[in-house]
Amino acid sequence: MKKVTTSTLMKMKQQGERISVITAYDASFAKLFDEQGMEVILIGDSLGMVLMGEDSTLPVTVEQMAYHTRSVRKGTQRALVVTDMPFMSYATTEQAFANAAALMAAGAEMVKLEGGAWLLDTIAGLTERGIPVCGHLGLTPQSVHKFGGFKVQGRDQQAASQMLEQARQLEQAGIQLLVLECVPRELAGRISQALNIPVIGIGAGVDTDGQVLVMHDMFGISANYMPKFSKNYLAVTGDIRKAVTLYIEEVRNGSFPSDEHSFS
Ligand code: KIV
Ligand code: NA
Repeated sequence: MKKVTTSTLMKMKQQGERISVITAYDASFAKLFDEQGMEVILIGDSLGMVLMGEDSTLPVTVEQMAYHTRSVRKGTQRALVVTDMPFMSYATTEQAFANAAALMAAGAEMVKLEGGAWLLDTIAGLTERGIPVCGHLGLTPQSVHKFGGFKVQGRDQQAASQMLEQARQLEQAGIQLLVLECVPRELAGRISQALNIPVIGIGAGVDTDGQVLVMHDMFGISANYMPKFSKNYLAVTGDIRKAVTLYIEEVRNGSFPSDEHSFS
């Protein structure tokens, strides 16, 4: 059981092996996901919605993210542990340094930030100081009010080229992983090909280097509605461990997501 690192993920991309990612918020689920072979476990600020019942991720705090990171890390031996930086915790570079330090001290091995060009200095500063960064483009839920709802991003030509350009800039600045959320399949495929680092999709089609799901969506138990791009693996297997194994298998062999779970 070899520890998953950023080098492991890079090698998987080079060898065309798809990466499986899931969110977790506690030690027990983290242990289960880790044992089933998930490469990355994300403590998502989605916890604001699936744990706290909020209608967005905006109320989540650094302290809450640190608390759940500590729990997940205790249950995890092999997977890479990535923690979301919550809304406005990286508004300035100085805030980003202090808050990323708190999350790394809580057990994160990488932090995830939502956004493009405005983050380049922050990303460079974090990576120079030894903190690996995951980018997040497309439907970035912390900007839900700016978008006017949870909407697919990058649909027109201009928005698509802009997203590709921002992904290139983020890679240049030092990100070692990128999440694309609710992006047309073709665009996500183009971005994945253009970058050397692995690109993980959610609602971004099958042509990325891996997939991520919110665990509550994968089990069909979310308090909120079930997004189109999600699949209820518990319903098709009737068993939590089998559900996780099937998700990983379908990510690996490219049968998830199908067109039914993608945007074009
Ligand atoms: O918060 C979260 O769970 C996420 C994933 C959906 C990528 O950011
Ligand atoms: Na998130």
